[in-house]
Amino acid sequence: MSLVSLLRKNCRKTLFTTPSHSQEYFIFHKLRNLYKYDISETDFHKPEEALYKAESRAKNVYGTKCTKFLANGSTSGIIASVLACVKSGEKVLIWKDAHPCHKNSLTLAGAEPVYYETIFDSEWGVPKAVDAVTLEKFLKKEKISAVIITSPTYEGFCANLKEIKDMCKKYGAYLIVDEAHGALYPFSEDLPQSAVRIADFTVQSLHKTAGGLNPTALVHSNCEKDLDGALRLITTTSPSYPMLASIEVNINFLNSKKGKKKISFLISQIKELHFACQNCIFGGDDITKILVKIPSLSGYELSEKLYEKYNIEDEKTNDISTMLLTGIGTSDRKIERLKYALKHIY
Ligand SMILES: Cc1ncc(COP(=O)(O)O)c(C=O)c1O
Repeated sequence: MSLVSLLRKNCRKTLFTTPSHSQEYFIFHKLRNLYKYDISETDFHKPEEALYKAESRAKNVYGTKCTKFLANGSTSGIIASVLACVKSGEKVLIWKDAHPCHKNSLTLAGAEPVYYETIFDSEWGVPKAVDAVTLEKFLKKEKISAVIITSPTYEGFCANLKEIKDMCKKYGAYLIVDEAHGALYPFSEDLPQSAVRIADFTVQSLHKTAGGLNPTALVHSNCEKDLDGALRLITTTSPSYPMLASIEVNINFLNSKKGKKKISFLISQIKELHFACQNCIFGGDDITKILVKIPSLSGYELSEKLYEKYNIEDEKTNDISTMLLTGIGTSDRKIERLKYALKHIY
């Protein structure tokens, strides 16, 4: 039985168990349905079994050895990956400007960070994705147990995953890919390659681009390391089953005809926007992150005009360019508004 069907099942027992709201005492009434589906590991529901099956089905969708649902963001996926493959005192190669959870995961594992830097792309004002040559300089010099890379970068630049994986293999290091911003990649050939079948561990935030609720995410593994054990170290024993069920439905949607059609429609809309806005220059490897610059304006000026004059807020801006994030929930109406604004800004 799917997690969703399980939550919908009418309970025939009188539960003297947690949670004490008993699925019927709604203190925050607006979240009535959330309370209704908020169950624990009772004998009647047995949600652990449904969760196990849902994760097994997800593993088949992604073609991984193991896929786990996370209700505490990519942050927890990165931490669990590091705890699974790194021992105290070992060295881990991490990006100097990575999301703080990379360094935090090392602190929790008692591992030592070795920092790499990436090339700064002065054409766009953003860091480029790391390359194998940069990583090899460190791997050659000292014993590194694991390498963490961020691909895509925040602004949508991607690394050569196959080359980096081969490099890590050559030096006996595990590869962890922070694909927090790339959860749509496994579901479209028009998007960059996903790491889910390449890296030892890949972490994806469903909530960032794939239509998930904050802070739903996934961690995938293709190696023999004990990811379950690592997750047990950092995860609550009272997970939110509505949240986990939303992950199940989210993956089913992305993998459905309807979901894939939605992604390709979004891509075609952005292609049209590129074509219509001849006054703009677009960049990046991932079209769904609209990285844009207008030669006569700084990135900050462009961002301000979008915000003040057209009520459009971007995701991230630098001196040269600005990035507007799109994803599963980005309607054609929203893209049209952005197209109109960009066309009229000089
Ligand atoms: C590159 C990157 N990695 C990891 C994270 C953490 O993701 P989450 O918010 O899902 O925990 C973020 C969040 O902004 C991020 O940008």
